[in-house]
Amino acid sequence: MSEPLSLLMIDSDPMRRQALRELLKDYEHVKVEAEAADFETGYHLVNQLKPSIVILDLGNPPDPGLAVIERLVVVSPHSAIFVTSDGQRTDTILQAVRAGAQEFLVRPVSQKDLLTAVQRIARQRALVTADPAEKGKIITLFGCKGGRGTTLIALNLAVALAKSFGQPVAAVDLDLQAGDLNLLFNLKPAYSIHDAAMNMDRVDALFLKSLLCDHPSGVSLLAAPQRIEEADPIQPLRISQLLSLLKASFAYVVVDTSPTYDERTLAALDVADALLLVAAPDLSSLYHTQRCLDLFDRLAYDPEKVKLLLNRCPSPPGNAEKTAQEILKRPVFWTFPEEKAVTTSLIAGEPLALGGTNSSLAAHFSTLAARLDRRERSVPFPPHMEKRKGSVAAPSRGLFNLFRRKPFSIPQSQGEEG
Ligand SMILES: Nc1ncnc2c1ncn2[C@@H]1O[C@H](COP(=O)(O)OP(=O)(O)O)[C@@H](O)[C@H]1O
Ligand SMILES: [Mg+2]
Repeated sequence: MSEPLSLLMIDSDPMRRQALRELLKDYEHVKVEAEAADFETGYHLVNQLKPSIVILDLGNPPDPGLAVIERLVVVSPHSAIFVTSDGQRTDTILQAVRAGAQEFLVRPVSQKDLLTAVQRIARQRALVTADPAEKGKIITLFGCKGGRGTTLIALNLAVALAKSFGQPVAAVDLDLQAGDLNLLFNLKPAYSIHDAAMNMDRVDALFLKSLLCDHPSGVSLLAAPQRIEEADPIQPLRISQLLSLLKASFAYVVVDTSPTYDERTLAALDVADALLLVAAPDLSSLYHTQRCLDLFDRLAYDPEKVKLLLNRCPSPPGNAEKTAQEILKRPVFWTFPEEKAVTTSLIAGEPLALGGTNSSLAAHFSTLAARLDRRERSVPFPPHMEKRKGSVAAPSRGLFNLFRRKPFSIPQSQGEEG
């Protein structure tokens, strides 16, 4: 929490206002901006200052106060309204909530109740505002069919980003029922995304970090649920909120997904700053990738954010890449070769990108990381692409054009200057 939350009190009793000030005086995350002794003054101050929190004493009878809450909600919809009351009429809580109050505190207000309520608001604010563009970048990997290397690339890209730039990287296993990034990282996480999603009222950046499992490469893993049935109650909205929160603390959030078009996967695709679509050069994969690209277009995803990766290419990859570009009518952003060292690395639980082997695939991950890093502007061509520098075919505008909604600019491909 950086900026303190602004707070305004409306209470006719100066002693009670003073008591509230006392309760908050050592709490640096709240700043009491103003106070009012009557509803009318309070209403005008709220309208003018738009504070984060309004504490309003309902008085007895409660009706005039309830009407004021309804007006406050209209003039300052982003203010959280806390009601204080003697609590003698049980129906008042319901009436206050219906009028628009977020918290109900019985007088005399205890410090614990007040701070708990304030912290709840602070966390909600953090979740809503946790994705300013200047912070991290969410990179979501998706493959329309399983077995094409989506997870392998997610794992190694996360490691390469952490290794190359020494910045904090989070890896999120969103293959909720079948994820095994924990195994591939050789980690034993105590918690999972299920624990985070089930505790959203407590989750802030710090709490979320405590649920991650750290890998020596500098990657922190938010693992898939340990039990299959724990995937079920995780709501799509929770996924967006968790990813946004991670984005506020990590330079990169690399998300591995399952090859399904369910709402939870779509949530991760929606919030992605870069969406890496993994395909293989076989016809079945290309067919499904074409259908997927059509869907992305109907979802109005910015074509700039969707980048096509072609994995398990024969060496040299030229023909495979050309065929893919012809079928998909868009440039291939990156090609990865088929490589035997993958199996050895998986058995050892040691990501290739750590660099323990003399794998050529490992070098691909660090160059791709550099290409995706927004600070990096000039990346050398991988040796196998050097001869064809500048010869990547421009995408045809044929079929794609029919679905197009936004102006299309050609995404850069593997060797082009950024
Ligand atoms: N470039 C590659 N070379 C060799 N094997 C690969 C390559 N990419 C992926 N594999 C292997 O293919 C299998 C499926 O990969 P995985 O990453 O689990 O795919 P997905 O997440 O798309 O289902 C794994 O055994 C993986 O090691
Ligand atoms: Mg996978």
